[in-house]
Amino acid sequence: MWGGRFAAGPASIMREINASIPFDKRLWKQDIAGSKAHVAMLAKQGIVEGEDAQAITEGLNRIAAEYEADGVPVDLDLEDIHMVTESRLAQLIGPTAGRLHTARSRNDQVATDFRLWVRDAIDEVQAGLVGLQRALLARADENADAVMPGFTHLQSAQPVTLGHHLMAYYEMVRRDRSRFADARARADECPLGAAALAGTGFPIDRHATAAALGFAKPTDNSLDSVSDRDFALDYLMAATQASLHLSRLAEEFIIWASQPFGFVKLPDAYSTGSSIMPQKRNPDAAELVRGHAGRIMGCMTALCMTMKGLPLAYSKDMQDDKPPVFEAHDLLALSIAAMTGMIETVTFRTDRMRGLAESGFATATDLADWLVREGGIPFREAHHITGRAVAAAEASGVPLDQLPIATLKAIDARIDDRIYAVLTVDASVASRMSHGGTAPAQVRARIAQAQEELGS
Ligand code: ARG
Repeated sequence: MWGGRFAAGPASIMREINASIPFDKRLWKQDIAGSKAHVAMLAKQGIVEGEDAQAITEGLNRIAAEYEADGVPVDLDLEDIHMVTESRLAQLIGPTAGRLHTARSRNDQVATDFRLWVRDAIDEVQAGLVGLQRALLARADENADAVMPGFTHLQSAQPVTLGHHLMAYYEMVRRDRSRFADARARADECPLGAAALAGTGFPIDRHATAAALGFAKPTDNSLDSVSDRDFALDYLMAATQASLHLSRLAEEFIIWASQPFGFVKLPDAYSTGSSIMPQKRNPDAAELVRGHAGRIMGCMTALCMTMKGLPLAYSKDMQDDKPPVFEAHDLLALSIAAMTGMIETVTFRTDRMRGLAESGFATATDLADWLVREGGIPFREAHHITGRAVAAAEASGVPLDQLPIATLKAIDARIDDRIYAVLTVDASVASRMSHGGTAPAQVRARIAQAQEELGS
């Protein structure tokens, strides 16, 4: 394709390091779509004859059918998907194939193909994330009243509801979706027609190709068009953050599935056994989701490192942009699907959660708040009094709400019988009615709103 000025062919090691076809064959659909839009525009502008454009389009359709049926042939001599396709076109329709590359370069071609691919990848991730949100909503709704210990420092802190805890992840996923939507909006400009780097002297219509490929507009600077990979980085950064959230949720499941916690029984479908310890039930899927987040972040870092310091415009380093994006996408799609499946099918041991919420003096803050509210005591002093009540309960091995009133009065005479109404875990969570609080009524209100956000 480019051998005109060379006397000798490339060394075999050059062929190998130069070729991107082993991985960029994944862009074949986008490459064919880009070429079809380009040749239609060339014909409309009178740059190629209508007949030639038709032969090229028919040839491209036939190649698409071949790729669909048999896959893309990996020929290292042809370097990449653009040349594999063009050379097959030449076999099919002869020298007319050579007119397709008028007013185009592989530099704007690959930038266009890759943007199209990333745009589709974002749509696929968005659909997966909506599924995850629906799963979270369904389980949160089911468990809006289920009390569990809420943690800070992984120490029992205050009772919360399981529904509230799950809805925290709903909010994270909502932000992830908004990051992907942002990424998609910024990627929505078409580089095709920037040619090698400087634009072209042919009277092309970049608005037409942009519209034909479903882009909002053409890009505005030809140098930027062929050297910009922000759209891939935006994707990887959004993917990194989404995977961090998935990893945190996975980690919760791993902790919750451990025997000392016993908050969940992971479904058989997402667990594995041990070949030596028959009692084992390992949370492998969750562990792999946690692990994949590290690899996805690695992909993001890899592309940052590839791009940093590259002068304008295109450099071959940029061919390395695709493997990390493909890898991250595959890992993310799999992680979202696995996490969604686990949430849909996990058994929550709500009795166990409630038991632990009741045993950890988790309503101590409620006692202190009551002293402030009912006794007019400054919070710091109330905190101190409550600390003594907790010590007394711990010494006699009972929860706070089972301390006799005499014991409580001996600690502070301002405490009376009404205190028992706030010491149960149910009273505690029900009282947290501040906006975004854990009260079942608040949680249900947010779930209803979220259901509306998602649409039915
Ligand atoms: N395979 C190349 C890539 O993925 C296509 C662009 C090649 N451009 C060039 N001037 N050699 O980046």
